[in-house]
Amino acid sequence: MSNIVLVGTQWGDEGKGRITDLLSNKAEMVVRFQGGDNAGHTVILDKNEFKLHLVPSGILNPNAVCVIGNGVVVNPMTLINELRDLESKGVRTDNLRISSNCHLIMPYHIALDSVTENSLGSLKIGTTRKGIGPAYADKAGRSGIRICDLMDPEVFKQKLSSILKIKNAILEKVYSSDAFEVEDIFNNYMQYAEILKKYVVDTAFLVNKAIDEGKNILFEGAQGTLLDIDHGTYPYVTSSSTTAGGVFSGSGIGPKRINNVIGITKSYCTRVGEGVFPTELSDKNGDYIRKKGNEYGTTTGRARRCGWFDCVTIRYAKIINNLDSLAITKLDVLTGLEKIKICTGYDIGGKIYDNVTPNCITLQKSKPVYIEVDGWDEDISDIKDFNGLPHNARKYIEILEELLSIPASMISVGPDRHQIIIRDNDLKSFLKHTD
Ligand code: GDP
Ligand code: IMO
Ligand code: MG
Repeated sequence: MSNIVLVGTQWGDEGKGRITDLLSNKAEMVVRFQGGDNAGHTVILDKNEFKLHLVPSGILNPNAVCVIGNGVVVNPMTLINELRDLESKGVRTDNLRISSNCHLIMPYHIALDSVTENSLGSLKIGTTRKGIGPAYADKAGRSGIRICDLMDPEVFKQKLSSILKIKNAILEKVYSSDAFEVEDIFNNYMQYAEILKKYVVDTAFLVNKAIDEGKNILFEGAQGTLLDIDHGTYPYVTSSSTTAGGVFSGSGIGPKRINNVIGITKSYCTRVGEGVFPTELSDKNGDYIRKKGNEYGTTTGRARRCGWFDCVTIRYAKIINNLDSLAITKLDVLTGLEKIKICTGYDIGGKIYDNVTPNCITLQKSKPVYIEVDGWDEDISDIKDFNGLPHNARKYIEILEELLSIPASMISVGPDRHQIIIRDNDLKSFLKHTD
């Protein structure tokens, strides 16, 4: 029995989807526990590309039950479109389960996300404009509407009518924007309810029962540690608990249920949206990484900001998530760079720090301190064994392990499911993987 949590250690897009897909091959259940369709998880299987936003990345494994846990905020329209898209590609979706406690993203959340961003001007967050912040705000403010409400037309209409008066007043009077009609939303959402009702259950019972039965469960994080509402670079964060702690409240299990926490990290660093990014590159190296790594957002298509690997932020992610190991992705993207830099610490006012709390105020004052290592030219995209990597690529990983005091259990060298080096024996036997 192995219950594994996969979390992003940076600002998202670390390759969580592809690692989840790989491990879900041997998992009986894959659980999303936070976020919404702001997430964009790309999985490539035998040259077929799947872009997942709300559906757990285990869906390509027909034997895994895929759970959208209570901590996720659900836009029912995008969920239905995603399911249809998967079905059109021959993927079975009948293994999906959605928590009746999930909060719904409503059209006014999406409108409010946009008008708020527009009104903030230079202070905007750079959100995905999917209504995530406003939906979580209503959840915390106890004025949200949940999937269980959607399943009861009378309750849904009553809640919608009451909240819409307030939302329309804000949209019209504060933002001079358009109001919504109760009937329009009601009719659309009743259609969604009809389609989604067969998936809706109490997923907390389901997940706990599966754990009791000794099944292998994967918990798939969305976003990353530095986007966590508490631990990230606030206010330039998302609105959920993206760190390992979010698993417990977001899926309804107790903290003793987890055996292994794996932090997913790129072999460099990227960020989409606004906010401080100490190792950001605005030179030809940044362009090289963006182009070679195809660093454009899965959800919004925005160009991702690129920079060098930052040990200070990963050390923080290691503490906050209590990481057992790292999965280092996209090593192949660094191929061809003559020199590669690694940020080992920050210079703040002339003093060097290995560990800092990565909040905006501190990071703004931080100047990265780098070491420079030699790159490699050889194509590594077919290598399956760590010892088969070029000397300098191996050295790069070993330096990161030493600087961070954490092993790299997996190293990916290309986007396809099979382009991965597995080094950890437990994971190897979990996957019955042979080098
Ligand atoms: P997620 O949000 O953490 O699941 O990551 P995304 O899917 O948004 O972004 C990761 C991108 O990198 C996707 O397009 C993946 O197909 C791609 N990718 C993942 N691992 C590798 C790798 O090892 N090499 C290359 N070249 N691409 C990768
Ligand atoms: P995955 O799961 C990268 C960023 C947005 C913005 C901030 C707040 O694919 O790693 P939001 O719409 O959540 O209110 O936006 O968070 N963001 C992500 N960045 N990957 C993601 O998801 C993200 N989800 C949100 O760009 O800066
Ligand atoms: Mg992504």
